[in-house]
Amino acid sequence: MIYPVGELATPLVDEAPARGASMSDVMRVKDAAVAVCGDTIVAAGSAADVLARVDRASAGTVVEAEGALVTPGFVDPHTHLVFAGNRAAEFVMRCQGRTYMEIARAGGGIVASMQATRQASEDELVRLGLLRLERMLAAGTTTCEVKTGYGLDLDSELRMLAAIYRLGREQPVEIAPTFMAAHAVPPGLSKEFYVKDVVERMLPAARALAASAGGGVMPFNDVFCDEGYFTLADTREILEAGLKAGLRAKVHADEFANLGATAYAVQAGAVSADHLLGVSDDEIDLLAGSHTVAVLLPGTSFYLNLAAHAPARKMIDRGVAVALGSDFNPGSCHIFSMPLIIGLACLHLRMSPEEALTATTANAAAAIARGNRLGQLREGYQADILIHDVSTLEELPYNLGWNPVRQVFKKGQPVFSRSRA
Ligand code: NIG
Ligand code: FE
Repeated sequence: MIYPVGELATPLVDEAPARGASMSDVMRVKDAAVAVCGDTIVAAGSAADVLARVDRASAGTVVEAEGALVTPGFVDPHTHLVFAGNRAAEFVMRCQGRTYMEIARAGGGIVASMQATRQASEDELVRLGLLRLERMLAAGTTTCEVKTGYGLDLDSELRMLAAIYRLGREQPVEIAPTFMAAHAVPPGLSKEFYVKDVVERMLPAARALAASAGGGVMPFNDVFCDEGYFTLADTREILEAGLKAGLRAKVHADEFANLGATAYAVQAGAVSADHLLGVSDDEIDLLAGSHTVAVLLPGTSFYLNLAAHAPARKMIDRGVAVALGSDFNPGSCHIFSMPLIIGLACLHLRMSPEEALTATTANAAAAIARGNRLGQLREGYQADILIHDVSTLEELPYNLGWNPVRQVFKKGQPVFSRSRA
């Protein structure tokens, strides 16, 4: 049991994702408590209510959070956290005025990370992933989607996927795997040849690996649909092949150019469409009438120093289900901190703290098809809980750039704590 609690803040949505105005339906209770049994929450709300329902003697250890904000653990629904090497030099080039696309065309970008990743063994990829996940957990991420996409050939993509499954077993952060061989075309191959290889050899092999080493957890299937990467026709072909093999679709849509990927994502029943900087008004309406979650990544537009950001306000006002992710990767966004993403969402996307909390918990869980179990502090949900070193929800975005997380519980177990700041 966590008691006393200064402020409990949690989205309450019967069927996640929350969309439009209901993204603001956040329960905020002072003098609260959360009761946990095993890995599950049995009651959460005002201390008077919880204590009336749950016998304190049988509630196990009591963790004190007096004066502190308590929220669900953050769910990061979009990361590229497995890679080798780094691209710090590209960051400096962008500071000097070069763009992401110019650097990619000159041999940097995804292909540069591919070269380093192809040289790394599975053990090395796991070692690097464990270090990064440890830092993410300390910043409150209790569940994390992780993509392949720096191997770009059959063996290297499968090695990345195997490393992702191992990461899910070797540390506490729950991992949702995504297969993203269609992240870029590797040098020396024609796009036609590569797309055919993804469809005919790589997707079936990913499915087989999921059934064996992955314990049956099927990855999502994602494509970077953008100028210089994959066209809408390629995206269609790869996502449809994945759907036939049982891999649900996600899509990198409208990050640099609008090629029509968001409309297609809705039509294909994709679980999420991500980035959406260039999404059109018509596509916003399509998203609003669909089950596809819009995953916005304000860290990326910030890190790339772009003038434009995704039109989050318009999307929420028109009824879209919006989630937020970090997009943590070696190039376009080397940021993993979800508290920082919350701050950027309030500043650049004009989201309220309540909307940003819903977008990083219940809606982010829905963006990886785990919204019925994760992302809310309520009876029956998994006990993934954060105690923060601040007292109110507003203080999460307000403390921009500082990690507010003091204690983390995953499945009811303490997995991180630091002394009070
Ligand atoms: O989400 N857009 C494609 N993939 C990443 C960039 C990856 C990289 O630069 O290594 C993104 O921004
Ligand atoms: Fe991405």
